Amino acid sequence: MNLRTFIDAVRETGDLATIRRPVDPYLEMAPVIAALDGRPVLFESVVGSEFRVLAGQCSDRRYFALTLDCPQDQVMLRLAEAFASPQKPPAVARADAPCQQVEMDPADLRRLPFLTHYAGDAGPYATAAIAIINDPDSGPNVSFHRCLRLDDRRMAARIVERRGTDTALQKTPGDLPVALCIGLPLHVLLAASMAPEPGVDELAIAHALAPTPVVRCLGNDLLVPAEAEFVLEGRITHRAAAEGPFVDLTETWDGMRQQPVIEIDRITHRQDAIYHALLPGMLEHKLLMGMPKEPSIYAAVNQVVACRNVSITPGGASWLHAVVQIDKRHADDGRRAAEAAFRGHPSLKHVAVVDMDIDLYDAHDVEWAIATRFQADRDLMIWENQPSSSLDPSASHTPGQKSRSAKMGLDATIPWEGPEQGPRLHQFQRVVLPKAELSRYLQTGQEP
Ligand SMILES: Cc1cc2nc3c(=O)[nH]c(=O)nc-3n(C[C@H](O)[C@H](O)[C@H](O)COP(=O)(O)O)c2cc1C
Repeated sequence: MNLRTFIDAVRETGDLATIRRPVDPYLEMAPVIAALDGRPVLFESVVGSEFRVLAGQCSDRRYFALTLDCPQDQVMLRLAEAFASPQKPPAVARADAPCQQVEMDPADLRRLPFLTHYAGDAGPYATAAIAIINDPDSGPNVSFHRCLRLDDRRMAARIVERRGTDTALQKTPGDLPVALCIGLPLHVLLAASMAPEPGVDELAIAHALAPTPVVRCLGNDLLVPAEAEFVLEGRITHRAAAEGPFVDLTETWDGMRQQPVIEIDRITHRQDAIYHALLPGMLEHKLLMGMPKEPSIYAAVNQVVACRNVSITPGGASWLHAVVQIDKRHADDGRRAAEAAFRGHPSLKHVAVVDMDIDLYDAHDVEWAIATRFQADRDLMIWENQPSSSLDPSASHTPGQKSRSAKMGLDATIPWEGPEQGPRLHQFQRVVLPKAELSRYLQTGQEP
C-alpha cells in the first residue's frame, strides 16, 4: 500500500479528514493536525505551495494493521519477522519510478511546504524525511533526521551522534551523498525507524513487510523507494549551522546545537506530489518512534523468558516506558524479563512486566496489575546512573557524552508457586461480573 492507496483506504473507512480551505504551514497547520491527532488529515490547499500535505498516516495502530493487512496485536510480530528476515528490494527503471516523474527546475526547497509548528521553533522543518546514505564499510543506512530549512538549497539536520548517519559521515573525508525521501508508504516509515545491525539495509526490512521497489537516484548511486512522493538528492557536509530549538518527542524543547549542513543538488517528485508533515510529539511521531522498538525488546526478552507481547506506551512518550507480557514459568521470570527489556531498547527508562491475562495496551489494566500483584520491597528493581535517552529532560546531560539516568523495572506478575500455581492463584485473578442485557431493563429509546 503506497501513500495514495492508503489515502483511498482511509477515505473509504471514514478516518480521513479532508481540509479544503487554504491553510498556512507557518503556525496555522500544526494546530489543525494536533486537533485531529489520531486521524489522517489531507490539506488540499496549502498557502505558499502547490503541493498538498498529508499528516497522521501513522497516528493510530489501526493504520499499521490496515497497511500490513493483519490484526492490530499481530503488527509487532510482523515487524519482528521482517526484522529477522530482510529481503533485498528489486530495482526498477526510472520510467517505472513515480518519484522521478518530475524534476524541479531549479531545485528550490522553499517550494516545499515545510511546517513551522511553534512560534519558538528555529524555522520551517521537514520532519518526515528519511535520509538514505551509503556507509563506506557497511553499505546502505536509512534513518529519520529532522531538517531545518536554511535557504533554497541548504538545511541543517539533527544527526544524533554515534548512530548510522553520523558514523558514516565521520568516516567520509568529503561530503557524504544523501537522498532525503518524503511521502512514503507507511511500512517504509516503520522500517526506517528501526536500527538494525550495521550492514542490514532498512529498505530490505521494508521489502520483507510489503513490496518496496527501489530506483537509483539521478545524481548519485543511492537507491530510494520508487513510490516516494519527493526525493531530495544532495550531500551532508562537514560544515555546521545552528539547529533548534525544536519541540521533540517528549513535547519539551530540544535546544539549539551546531549540526551538519545538507546541500541539496536536485529535487524530483511525483506528479501532483503529496508532502508528508509529521507533527513532533504527537501520536504519529510517538508510534513511529516506539513501535519499531517493540520487536527488539521482544527478541531480547525471548532469549531468557517466553515473551508474548510488548507495548511501548504513549504515556511514556512512546520511548521511555514499556509493558512486557510474559508466560511466566519460573519465580524470577519477571525480573529476568525486565533486565532483558533494557538490553532490547537501551533508551528505555521504566518497564512493567505483566502476565498473559493483562491487556498491555490498556493503561488501566496495567495499573491494576501493579496495584494487585506488585510489592515494592519485593518486586521493584532500580539501576542507578545508566546510559539513557538524550530526550529525557530529567536525565543528566553533559555535552559530548551519553546522557545518564536511573532505570526502574516493576515485576507486576503473580508470585510463582510452582507449575500448578496452588490455591493462592485465585486471589490474583480478576472476578468478572457478566454484563446484563440492558434492553431488558431500559425503556425503548432511553439512553443508558
Ligand atoms: C519520526 C522520527 C523522527 C526522528 N528524528 C531523528 C532526528 O532528527 N535525528 C536523529 O538522529 N534521529 C532521529 N530519529 C531516530 C532515528 O531514525 C533512529 O535513531 C534510527 O533508527 C537510527 O538508526 P541507525 O543507527 O541505523 O542510523 C527519528 C525517528 C523517528 C521515528
